[in-house]
Amino acid sequence: MDMPAPSSQPVQVPLATRPMGVMDSFRTGRRNLLELIPEIATRQPMVSGRTVKRWHMVMDPAANRRILKDRLEDYPKSDVTKMILRPAIGESLFIAEGAHWHWQRRAAAPAFSVRNVQALAPVMTAAAERAAERVAARRGRAANLFDEMVATTFAVISDVTFSGGKAFDRTAVHGAIDAYIASTARISLLDIVGAPAWVPRPGRLLSGPAMRSMKAMADQAITERRAAGHAGVPDLLDLLLDGEDPETGRRMTTAELRDNLLTFIVAGHETTATVADLPALPYIRQIVDEALRLYPPAAFLSRTARAPDTLCGREVRPGDTVMLPIYALHRNHLLWPDPHRFDPDRFADPKAVDRFAYLPFGGGPRICIGASFALQEAVIVLATLLARLRFTPVPGREPQPVLILTLRPEGGVWLNVAEA
Ligand code: HEM
Repeated sequence: MDMPAPSSQPVQVPLATRPMGVMDSFRTGRRNLLELIPEIATRQPMVSGRTVKRWHMVMDPAANRRILKDRLEDYPKSDVTKMILRPAIGESLFIAEGAHWHWQRRAAAPAFSVRNVQALAPVMTAAAERAAERVAARRGRAANLFDEMVATTFAVISDVTFSGGKAFDRTAVHGAIDAYIASTARISLLDIVGAPAWVPRPGRLLSGPAMRSMKAMADQAITERRAAGHAGVPDLLDLLLDGEDPETGRRMTTAELRDNLLTFIVAGHETTATVADLPALPYIRQIVDEALRLYPPAAFLSRTARAPDTLCGREVRPGDTVMLPIYALHRNHLLWPDPHRFDPDRFADPKAVDRFAYLPFGGGPRICIGASFALQEAVIVLATLLARLRFTPVPGREPQPVLILTLRPEGGVWLNVAEA
């Protein structure tokens, strides 16, 4: 290939090298949560502290397995995760716990089976080709691939949730979700350490009308589909309408369906953009895996401990905030040689990677239900773009990874576009 190789040390965030006071942490956290992660979290298995409340950051595969799998019930999602997301997605799959989570997971699982996800490939390919068309129009110039990828993944997720729905105004829903993310996204440090719900936060003064009209639109689309039935390849809404808990036969009400579909839409329009110039398709999957290691969209998982426990030999008390800073886990020197280097060969043999050292989709029973959907989509989009085009970074316009609700490239991902 005549194109320069992608930078092997792509952009990273300078992590904190000194302890921060409460106000300092507060200001930093509002700007970029990644900057709250201490640098030693990339060198040690566990870091603990107290900022208002006791907290722990865990970067140890065995402890991660315990939190996410073996002792799942003792580590429910943190109160703050629920508080932030509940106004948009209700008690849906993402935040429900116990029996209410379990039946929804069983009812939704068939919609995300390998067979159904594969059946969605044509929708993904069509969206990928439209993206390639738009980007190809910028040959010889730079394009913001981040904007293109957000538009593409949003087109896919809305087409496979409410395909052909008259009631469903894609632009309006996208606008409402972005407004919601923007208004809630400024999660304060108080939230992260788990301050009580009555402490005022700007993010909780949620703009009601956009949210209400989005829910109303979704409800209408569901009601119409119930009446009309489905034809052709079933989309996610059809599959969820048919979905039932295999143990109890319970099906979702319109409100439950709507909250779950909105969850899929919020979760399904985050993706990752990669600088690459590589021909072979299996290698594309390795690039996607490596990009998700360096820039995990869900860069921070947070739990509230419910029972006393010991992690990495350290005491965990009920009420402690237990965080899995995936960004630091994926760059931990104890787990990854030369961790900041971009090297897709790390994933040449997927079995060589410790399951709980690499968690872009979480792990255990609550692992992302959309993981194979997202991976298939990323591979299709990247392969479609690279079949026609080549990309090189625009010097001086590197994206800044910023963690607000998810990890995003602030400033966009500007790449020069050329013919393949
Ligand atoms: C690159 C894209 C994606 C990433 C990195 C991602 C990441 C994650 C992670 C880390 C979790 C676990 C959160 C935790 O344990 O606290 C999760 C859960 C979840 N994700 Fe994704 N996700 C992606 C795409 C999707 C898509 C496309 C969908 C649906 C269409 C989806 C739906 C969900 C749902 C419903 C859950 C909750 C599952 C449960 O608790 O049973 N995600 N995701």
